Amino acid sequence: MKGILLAGGSGSRLYPLTTITSKQLLPVYDKPLICYPLSTLMMLGITDILIISTPKDTPVIEDYLGDGADLGITLSYTVQDEPKGIAEAFVIGDEFIGDDPVTLILGDNIFNFGPQIQSIANTLQSDFDGALIFGYYVTDPQRFGVIEYDESYDVLSLEEKPKQPKSNYAAVGLYAYDNTVVEYAKNLKPSARGELEITDLNLKYLEKTALKALPFKRGIAWLDAGTPHSLLAAANYVEMIERMQGLKLCCPEEVAYRMGYISVNDLKQKIKNIKDCDYTEYLENHVIHQKG
Ligand code: TTP
Repeated sequence: MKGILLAGGSGSRLYPLTTITSKQLLPVYDKPLICYPLSTLMMLGITDILIISTPKDTPVIEDYLGDGADLGITLSYTVQDEPKGIAEAFVIGDEFIGDDPVTLILGDNIFNFGPQIQSIANTLQSDFDGALIFGYYVTDPQRFGVIEYDESYDVLSLEEKPKQPKSNYAAVGLYAYDNTVVEYAKNLKPSARGELEITDLNLKYLEKTALKALPFKRGIAWLDAGTPHSLLAAANYVEMIERMQGLKLCCPEEVAYRMGYISVNDLKQKIKNIKDCDYTEYLENHVIHQKG
């Protein structure tokens, strides 16, 4: 299973912050936003990852994350010239995807799966056929893409911002597809707003009765950091959990070590390359000395 982290877009709702830097490099408490979706892919067992961003931001992101070798993963980069839609990721990512299935995560989505992570990882790593979207129970489904599914988790309908939602499950920024996604994406027509829409892509799978839903369990966190309010809410969430537990959420170096992608010596080397700070102190004292 390959991974795509889509980290471009125009970030207009975060103007003027996004005139200075990419949304995905803005801080969410103690680390750049991109660390959260990157760590999520890594925790799902996905280690071959393509990062897609804008012509301006791609070199900056690459400068920060590099080729992924120090995290024991492979990172590659491709530019999306203009924000022409989420589904364009599969057109741009064609060569990278090759003959594999692929998971897409949006660069401004933060997840805290808790214990459900293992079963999600197992699903993604099993023989993968069709498409899988993820549903998050919300009180205000009218604001989202709404998933209606049956007892076998087959999707019955998927509607964008419906006036009369058929369920409370909102589609989140995580999607997994078999290899036909590339062909489907290439045949999509731009919507009225000129974008290749991820919903249209999912509807192609729905037409073939090949679209499944995986609903998240109670207590799981899903945050979209796309507005000033939600960016602050995400930072407050991360700060609260990290302060209560003294453990970080989505720290890529820690994830790499705990997932076994790097050894203790690799991590020590990484720490040596960073100037002493709270982050290195955390990696040293809470990760290396108290691995649990
Ligand atoms: P959105 O939040 O839908 O769009 P945006 O980031 O351009 O922000 P705004 O609506 O405020 O202008 O995008 C969701 C994620 O997908 C985000 O991480 C950016 C990414 N994205 C791309 O990389 N390319 C695209 O063409 C689009 C539409 C989004």
